[in-house]
Amino acid sequence: MKGIILAGGTGTRLYPMTLAMNKQLLHIYDKPMIYYPLSTLMLAGIQDILIISSQDAQPNFEKLLGNGNHLGLNISYQQQEKPNGIAEAFIIGEEFISNDPCALILGDNVFHGQGLGKLLSRCAELETGAKIFATWVSDPERYGVVDLDKDGNIRGLIEKPKVAPSNWAVAGLYFFDYNVSSIAKSISPSPRGELEILDVIKQYLEEDKLEIEKLGRGYAWLDTGTPQSLLEAATFVQTLQQRQGLGICCPEEIALSQKFISLKQFKILAKKYSSSEYGKLLNKTIQDTSK
Ligand code: TTP
Repeated sequence: MKGIILAGGTGTRLYPMTLAMNKQLLHIYDKPMIYYPLSTLMLAGIQDILIISSQDAQPNFEKLLGNGNHLGLNISYQQQEKPNGIAEAFIIGEEFISNDPCALILGDNVFHGQGLGKLLSRCAELETGAKIFATWVSDPERYGVVDLDKDGNIRGLIEKPKVAPSNWAVAGLYFFDYNVSSIAKSISPSPRGELEILDVIKQYLEEDKLEIEKLGRGYAWLDTGTPQSLLEAATFVQTLQQRQGLGICCPEEIALSQKFISLKQFKILAKKYSSSEYGKLLNKTIQDTSK
């Protein structure tokens, strides 16, 4: 399974913060936003990762994450000229995907919850069809929403419905088989001029190849698109990390626990940040590991 992080966009809801800075390089509490989706893919066991961003932002992502070898990853980069829609990721990434199944995560989506790693590694076993995640939200009108029948099977998908058929919103993490690039190439832009991810998902639904995983109460799916939601996400991370002394979405720690890197390699990474709070969290992991 390969993984794409879509980290372009214009971030207009965060202006002026995003006038000179890509949204995904802003921080959520103690680490750059892109660490969160990166961690999610790593939890799924994915090591081959493509980061799609804009021409301006790419050098900064490369400075931050390089080729990913220090995390036991293989990270490559490509550019999206302008935000032509989420589904364009599969056209830009066609060569990268090749004949493999591929996960896509939006660069501003944060997932957290007990057992998420196990759930994601199961999803990463997907070879045919597609898998999407639905999370319960209080304001479904703002999202792509799943229409379910009484047995919980998907009947349809509706983008930002005026009257929502359910409170289950489609989260920004998707698993597809290798057909996804040709499907993305076959769809037309929507009235808002974007290649819509829901249109790709609908193709799988029509072919009866779509599975849905509901993320219930125990999971957090956080939005970071507005100043308010960005602050809320930061507070969420700060509260949990401080209370438990455990890191949330620290790629170095996940690389160690997934055995992508050795403890020796991890110690070198942790030392680099020793004067920051983030580094202290990593160093605590070393102590915990040796208990
Ligand atoms: P959005 O929140 O839809 O767009 P945005 O990030 O540009 O923000 P705003 O609405 O404030 O202008 O995008 C969701 C995520 O998907 C975000 O991480 C950016 C990414 N994205 C792209 O990289 N390319 C695209 O073409 C689209 C539509 C989104």
